[in-house]
Amino acid sequence: MSTDREAVVWTRLSGEPNRMGKLYVTDKECRFTYDESYLQLNLPGLGLVYAPEFYGNTTISRERKSPFDLFPPIQSLIPPRQTDNFQRNLALKYLQTKNNQQFSATDMTSFDADWEILKISGHGGIGHLDIFEDDNIAENWYTNPPRHELLEISDELGFSLKQFMTWFEEDIEVFIQTVGPTPSVGGAIPKLLLSIPESGWDGRIGLPTRIKTPGIIDIVLKFEQTTRYPGIVELEMLALEMHREAGFDVPRYWPCIFKGMPALAIERFDRDHNNTPLYSETLYSILASGIPLNNHYDYRYDLIAQAIDLSPVELVSDTVDAKLHLFKRFLMSLLTGNGDLHLENLSITCDDNIKGFSRIYDPAPMRAYAQHDMLSVMPFGEYGEMLDGSDDAVTLKLAVERFAKICGLNKTQFEDILTDYLSKTSEFNKRVGELKTVPDENKERLIKQTEDIRKKLQI
Ligand SMILES: Nc1ncnc2c1ncn2[C@@H]1O[C@H](COP(=O)(O)OP(=O)(O)OP(=O)(O)O)[C@@H](O)[C@H]1O
Ligand SMILES: [Mg+2]
Repeated sequence: MSTDREAVVWTRLSGEPNRMGKLYVTDKECRFTYDESYLQLNLPGLGLVYAPEFYGNTTISRERKSPFDLFPPIQSLIPPRQTDNFQRNLALKYLQTKNNQQFSATDMTSFDADWEILKISGHGGIGHLDIFEDDNIAENWYTNPPRHELLEISDELGFSLKQFMTWFEEDIEVFIQTVGPTPSVGGAIPKLLLSIPESGWDGRIGLPTRIKTPGIIDIVLKFEQTTRYPGIVELEMLALEMHREAGFDVPRYWPCIFKGMPALAIERFDRDHNNTPLYSETLYSILASGIPLNNHYDYRYDLIAQAIDLSPVELVSDTVDAKLHLFKRFLMSLLTGNGDLHLENLSITCDDNIKGFSRIYDPAPMRAYAQHDMLSVMPFGEYGEMLDGSDDAVTLKLAVERFAKICGLNKTQFEDILTDYLSKTSEFNKRVGELKTVPDENKERLIKQTEDIRKKLQI
């Protein structure tokens, strides 16, 4: 037996809150209908595939099928059902404290739990969608934002986040009062959404903005789990810096110590200078809206490039530029030992009606860690495969060249970019060697792998 569920979707895309439509979930499907008044605004909708221009006020329905009970853009607001997911545990604890809602071990990973989490953490998070239980709650949330306040992170905050992180049992209530029911951010690393002075991190933090707040910017604060990923803050910073030096658009970032823990504060790419959300959606959400995908790496880079050209839904405004970006990002990830450039680490944003890849995020050189030491999370250029008429497997260099071709580059262009990027990353290994908080073992692993790749890619 199950009961149908309802929720409402709002957005602040226009700068003001507008209701977008109504969500309805039955035991078999999820359904969404745009409001007539929203359609008049000519704004983006749930996502690129479930766009107002394709559906108008016709109800969109989607079968509930693992791993998606909900439309992918909405599902991505719910932290995944892993028992060690920080964001999910935070939300579940909050539910427990607030409503005395207890979830047994199996319930915690049920759709019931997902739905309860969505109702509390489905608004004010990453991206442009705000989900609420009903319109009253939505209106109240928008019309009564707490007065923006910057607080020093000091012991007076009255909680030990460090303890909380070790195993967040204690101080959870106080933590929640301080940071609020934290809007969700997917991913494996504990993160908090906060705001800081526009001039940069100075040790003061506030809650994420809900209205235009001059002088304040929104950030994601990523914590280092020093046992699992020692030195990751330094590594991620180095990768961000390498990307900036190679000409990518990289948000500002600040290393910091938050209650005794190393963390990285990164400017949000899904908010504009007025603190207004920009349409933003991960490639995972976009693709899974149109085709069946089992997880965020269930695809091939070549297919992304092809989709940019051939998808019946326009993914980006400038296809030539987007394919070039994709190729360069992929090449940088090889050269900086990332390996983890999956569909949730690539997003599309829309600014001033121009759709394109977002600014860089999460370029961390994950190959430094044994459990993530792989060349690439998704296949490309038929690397390692035996092609018809050949006795040899496709080499790394040939595979990269084949992928470049699919991205619209001829041999000369490919070789020019490769030469340029080999040169722009030539100091990478030296700089890895100089990092202070990364253990030698991890540095050595990363350096060995990227040296090997550089050798194989030499012109
Ligand atoms: N600067 C940013 N601005 C806006 N959203 C961001 C930013 N950085 C990260 N995000 C969002 O948060 C999600 C998780 O962040 P990120 O990918 O950095 O963390 P992660 O836990 O390392 O992820 P992974 O699971 O790939 O290891 C991203 O998929 C993206 O949607
Ligand atoms: Mg990520």
